[in-house]
Formats: sequence, C-alpha cells, structure tokens
Amino acid sequence: MWDRLSLLSVDQISREDAEEIISLSSRMKASDSCRGKILANIFFEPSTRTEKSFQSAMYRLGGQVITHRDIGSSREKGETKDDTIRVLASYADIAVIRDDEKGRMKEYSDMAGIPIINGGDGSNEHPTQTLLDMFTIKDEIGRLDNLKVVFIGDLKYSRSIHTIMKMLSKFSGNKLYTISPHELMLPEGMREIQAESYFIEQMKDALKRIQPEVIYCNRIQKERLQGEKGSYVIDNGILQILPGSSIIMNPLPRAGELSIEIDSDKRFVAFKQAGNGVAVRMALLSMMLKTQSET
Ligand code: NCD
Repeated sequence: MWDRLSLLSVDQISREDAEEIISLSSRMKASDSCRGKILANIFFEPSTRTEKSFQSAMYRLGGQVITHRDIGSSREKGETKDDTIRVLASYADIAVIRDDEKGRMKEYSDMAGIPIINGGDGSNEHPTQTLLDMFTIKDEIGRLDNLKVVFIGDLKYSRSIHTIMKMLSKFSGNKLYTISPHELMLPEGMREIQAESYFIEQMKDALKRIQPEVIYCNRIQKERLQGEKGSYVIDNGILQILPGSSIIMNPLPRAGELSIEIDSDKRFVAFKQAGNGVAVRMALLSMMLKTQSET
C-alpha cells in the first residue's frame, strides 16, 4: 500500500491506491485543510498545467505556494539543482519537483527531508499526470479495466505515456496498443509492458481494426530527441474511423499532432483532462499533508 509520504514513481501506487485517489478526487471541495502549509513548486523544466494546477489545488485547500524557475534564480550563478532543492525544502512543507534528468527523484527526496512529488522526470515518469488521466478515463468511460487503449506518438520519450501504460497494466483485461514513428518506439526499459505495436503508416488500418475506447496521444518530445525524426496528425479523417463512444486524450501541450479541426468533436477531451488536474492534485496534497502531520 502507498505510504502517502512521497510520490516518486507510479510503482508505489497499486490499483487499489489509484482507485482511492480517484474516488477522493471526485469528492474534493475547497476547504481550509492545508491552511498554514506551504508547497514549493520546483521546476527545472517548462510547465504550464502541472505547475499551475498544483498551485490552484494548494490555494483551494487554503495553503500557500512558492515557485522556483531557473530564470532569475541563483541557478543562473551556477547553483546546483541539489543545493536549490535543499534550500527550498527548508522553506516548505511539501514540494513538487520537475526535473530534466530521469531517475533522480529518490535522491532528491532523501536530501529534501519533506514529502516530494515527482512532477515529471526527463523521459521517465509523470505520476500525477497518470492519476489525472486515470480519473478522466473513469469519468468519461466509467471503468478502468477491460479497455482497449491505443497510444500514439513519441513512445520513446513521452513520460506521460510511459507512466499511464504502467498504471493501466495493473488493472485487469486492459489491451494496450502503440502506434509510433519508426525511430520513436517504446524504449528497452518499457518492453515488459504487454503491447501490440504498429507504425504511423499503419495508423488508419490499425485503428479501424482495434476500435479502441481510448486514444492517448502526445507530441513528439523535441527537446529530448537525439537525432530521431517523426511526425503525425490526428484530424477529422482519423476521427471518422473511431467509435462514437471513444475518447481522444492528450496531456498537452499539442505541437502539431492534433488538428484544431477536432476541437469541436465531443470525443476530444484533452482540455477537460487538463481541468481534472486540480481535483486530483488537491486529493494528493491533502492525503500527503495529512499523513505527514500524523507521523
Ligand atoms: C506533459 C509533460 O510535461 O510530460 N505535459 C504535462 O505535464 N501536461 C506532456 C508534454 O510535455 O508533452
């Protein structure tokens, strides 16, 4: 069971934990439960939704927020990320860290000495995105198992896709499919996840055959590419072959892979998905700060 003291990886979250977080998220209301508490938002990579929805969540719970961005900080004088984290942790009760490197969250958590939430670490994981994605699927489709879910795009570097694939694999009967450019297939470390793979050229035929409930796409992660190439577009032509009851998700930002012509289609839920981030992050902050005050 999740210890509720840190959220560094989705490996900490069982199916039951995820269900509990989703259920609490749907019941979250503005309150004063985090009055007097300070969240440090420590972002070493760009962010709009993750940072601002954590901020909104903390405000809705009566708490306050300090934000670190490298621009204008002592990082411009050469201060290390480790020193920055150590100092900011001494100013706050809980911190969200977004890192450009993968796999250092445990180290950061040990040096911070306060509860740490992984706000995305390189191409590795993005656990809070996955929890809001799972919340969205539950809200839109009504269940989290026995689903056919197709992942489209940069399977190599998308941390949002890596993390939700791991989480969906913990539920029963889910069938996962991937559609990617040749150079951007799932990385070695993800190969234990059972998924049927296709290339972008096969997208239409594959979608016609699969008839998925969920289509989850993400932009090509340009800032992480090491010479690889790839592009794709979801437009009305693709929507025509998808079931009327399916949903099209994307963690956003979009960068050319989602035509704006699909925005008015009720199956396109990416903006609702982004909005769900506040409730889910409220649930996480309140669960973790409650546990911290009891230990
Ligand atoms: C994602 C991320 O940062 O990994 N964004 C987000 O948090 N909503 C997706 C992306 O940047 O493509």
